[in-house]
Amino acid sequence: MKSILTAFVAGAALMLAVGAQAATLEASGTLKVDQPGPVINKYVYSQFSEHLGRGIYDGVWVGPDSKIPNVDGVRTDIVEALKAIHTPAIRWPGGCFADEYHWRDGIGPRDQRPVRKNHWWAGDAETNAFGTHEFMDFVEQVGADPYISINIGSSNPSEMLDWIDYMTSDGQDSLANERRKNGRDKPWKTPLLGFGNEAWGCGGNMTPEYYSDELRKFTGFYHRDPNNPTIRIASGANSDDTHWTDVVMKNAGHNIDALSLHYYTIPTGNWDHKGSATGFDEQAWTDTFAQTLKMDKIISDHEAVMDKYDPQKRVGLFVDEWGTWYDVEPGTNPGRLYQQNTLRDAVLAAANFNIFHHHADRVRLTAIAQTVNVLQSMILTDGDKMELTPTYYAFKMYVPFQDATEIPLDITAPNFTKGATTIPAFNVSAAKGKDGKIYIGFASMDPEDASKVTIDLGDLKAKSVSGQVMTAAKMDATNPMGAAPVVAPVDFKGAKLSGGKLTVTLPAKSVVVLSLQ
Ligand code: AHR
Repeated sequence: MKSILTAFVAGAALMLAVGAQAATLEASGTLKVDQPGPVINKYVYSQFSEHLGRGIYDGVWVGPDSKIPNVDGVRTDIVEALKAIHTPAIRWPGGCFADEYHWRDGIGPRDQRPVRKNHWWAGDAETNAFGTHEFMDFVEQVGADPYISINIGSSNPSEMLDWIDYMTSDGQDSLANERRKNGRDKPWKTPLLGFGNEAWGCGGNMTPEYYSDELRKFTGFYHRDPNNPTIRIASGANSDDTHWTDVVMKNAGHNIDALSLHYYTIPTGNWDHKGSATGFDEQAWTDTFAQTLKMDKIISDHEAVMDKYDPQKRVGLFVDEWGTWYDVEPGTNPGRLYQQNTLRDAVLAAANFNIFHHHADRVRLTAIAQTVNVLQSMILTDGDKMELTPTYYAFKMYVPFQDATEIPLDITAPNFTKGATTIPAFNVSAAKGKDGKIYIGFASMDPEDASKVTIDLGDLKAKSVSGQVMTAAKMDATNPMGAAPVVAPVDFKGAKLSGGKLTVTLPAKSVVVLSLQ
């Protein structure tokens, strides 16, 4: 059943559309190129890779002796795929794993490293074959920045200091020399340092007051280095817990440069029965989008609290874990969080990108969970084969938004209703890319109908429009393992320029990115 809603944009009435199968809904809005917004930091497109399931082992690391093509043990196919989406930063080693990780376990000859139990994730044997050198090598191969999460929950400031000196010291101290002995002469940079993870939960079950004190202590012993500028990131709130943000900003806001936020999309909203990654119906599709769109209000609510203490917006809000979290694939270990990825995930990723763009002044980094073989992954692997997921292609389509300047584009979309759930048919964002072109990205969430969108281009004298679309016949279309993708972007022919207006016919359940010049 379609609902009929009236919306008004920039004083112009939207056309009403009466729902019917394969109808075309209408909406309009104005692009305000004369009122550019903030820069969309490229870090908004970052990744999160934890020692969890096959996220690192198999997914990234196969070891130098593997028959799977690799450079120094890191899979070449994964590196190439992440380079192609201009991955700006990768967060590691966790997640919950980070607050039990001891960096000394992961340095030195690999055959002498201790094997530990991964308490958080399936009790798997953690060989520590992938440690600091391997991670830093991985990000260097990708061309990304390292985002290192430091153990605050079960560690102490000395251990933190030693790890940082080991990585970054250029002197003749023992730690720098140990790093050299282990094969790395030049110090690494640590542009992004996280102080704990989910301190309210797996990171130590702390109250915000207690965590603020710990944060002051750890950041107090962290010595800032002008040769290695670092963004100090505090462990932030769970979803809509603005009390956490309030206390940490009040008590330790001066000690940090960013505060994180975690919000996962659970289709049912019920952690015990989250919903399936595939084989879902239109109700589950709609409910999933209703859940994910909460991201906008969640961010706004945290921003309002941060504005009280930091009106200049010095401290960033980093959504460093987000994405879909479904019931694991049948037959797989529940502790390894392996899930399939469909067209729904791709449209949902685009919907979140559009939300993040609207908050670009405060949201200057996000990291989707997780890069390979875990939750909403870019890539799934099976032995030497890999699958680039629909989500991967959403990231690829949105590459031009990295470091672009946001351009206001207000459009109130018509609604789509299924059962008791109503969502907008689409959301949208626009930006001026570093190449000077204007980009418009749409997440078309209506699973049934196309939307016809008319955009008044205002001062923009565009001569041509081109673009890409990604859709599929089925809502749960996936890409095959080790074969050409089915859900991937193709040229889009549904956009036209005429009389200073852009008209776009957005297919149902699709991602569309347009480029105007
Ligand atoms: O991404 C999986 C887990 O989700 C992370 O380890 C943790 O930070 C969050 O609860």
